[in-house]
Amino acid sequence: MDEIGGIANALRSARGVVVLTGAGISAESGLRTFRGNEKDMGSLWKSFDPMRLATPEAFLADPETVTKWYDWRRRGCLAAEANAGHRALAEMERRLTGTGSESRPTRHRSETGATSFTLLTQNVDRLHQKAGSVNVVELHGSIVEWRCVRCRRKTVPGAEEFARVPAPSPCCAGEMLRPDVVWFGEALPVEAVEAAQFAVAGCDLFLSIGTSAVAYPAAGYVQAAAAMGAKTVEINAEETPISGMVDWTIRGKAGEVLPRVVEGAWGGE
Ligand code: OAD
Repeated sequence: MDEIGGIANALRSARGVVVLTGAGISAESGLRTFRGNEKDMGSLWKSFDPMRLATPEAFLADPETVTKWYDWRRRGCLAAEANAGHRALAEMERRLTGTGSESRPTRHRSETGATSFTLLTQNVDRLHQKAGSVNVVELHGSIVEWRCVRCRRKTVPGAEEFARVPAPSPCCAGEMLRPDVVWFGEALPVEAVEAAQFAVAGCDLFLSIGTSAVAYPAAGYVQAAAAMGAKTVEINAEETPISGMVDWTIRGKAGEVLPRVVEGAWGGE
C-alpha cells in the first residue's frame, strides 16, 4: 500500500488524532517560513536576525523596530487566505469528530464514540481558524492579539494603535503593547502546553506537517507520541530531523498532499 493509503487507513481507525503544524503549511498562502528553502520567497530567519527581533531583550532595547516588524507581519497574516492544506485539516476534524465548524472545541473523546482531534500549531497567523478548524491549540500565541506589557491584558489592535510606535497600551498609562507571541527565551503558554500534553498522551495517530521540527518543546511531541505507541506521519517539502523516525513520510507540499489524504480516507463516502 502507498503512503497515502496507509495514512488514510490509520485515520479511519484512529481514536485520537493529533496534528502539529508549522510555518510550511502557510507557505502556500504566501507567508514566509522561518527556515525553509522556498525558492520564491526566502525564509524569515535568513533575512532577519531573530535575536534582534524575537526576544524580550530586543523589544526592550528597540521597541520601535520590533513593533514595526511584528506589525508588518501582523498585516501580512491578516491579509492572507487559508489554503487547501488548512482546509483539508478542517475537513479532517469534521470527519473525525462528526462536528460542524460551528461546534465548540472538545478535548475528550465524545460520547458518540467520535475520534478526538487536536490541532497543535506553532503558527501565529490564525489561518487554521480561518479555514474552519475548531480545536486549535496555539503553542506560540497569536500575532493578531497583542498584550499590555504591564498587566498582560489582551487586545486586537488595528491601524490606529500603530499610528504611534511603539503602540501605547490602552489600559495602563505610559505602557506599551507587544505581540502576544512566544519569543526566544520565553515559556510557552501553560494552558497550551497542558492541552498539548493531554492530547499527545491520548493519541494513536500523530501527524507533523510543514515544520522543520527543531523548535522545542513542539519538536519533541512526535517522539513522545511514538514512545506511547502512536503511529506517526510527516508531510514536509524537505527532509527534517524526524523524517527517519516516523512511520510514514511524504515529501511534498501540504496543500497538495493533505487533500489527497482526506480524499483517500473519506472520498468514497
Ligand atoms: P520552519 O520555517 O522552521 O520550517 C518550515 C518547514 O516547512 C520547513 O521544513 C520547510 O521545508 C517546510 N515547508 C515549506 N513549504 C512547505 C509546504 N508548502 N508544505 C509542506 N512543508 C513545507 O517553521 P517552523 O517549524 O514552524 O517560533 O518553526 C518553528 C518555530 O521556529 C516557529 O514557530 C518560530 C520559529 O522561530 C517562534 O517564533 C517562537
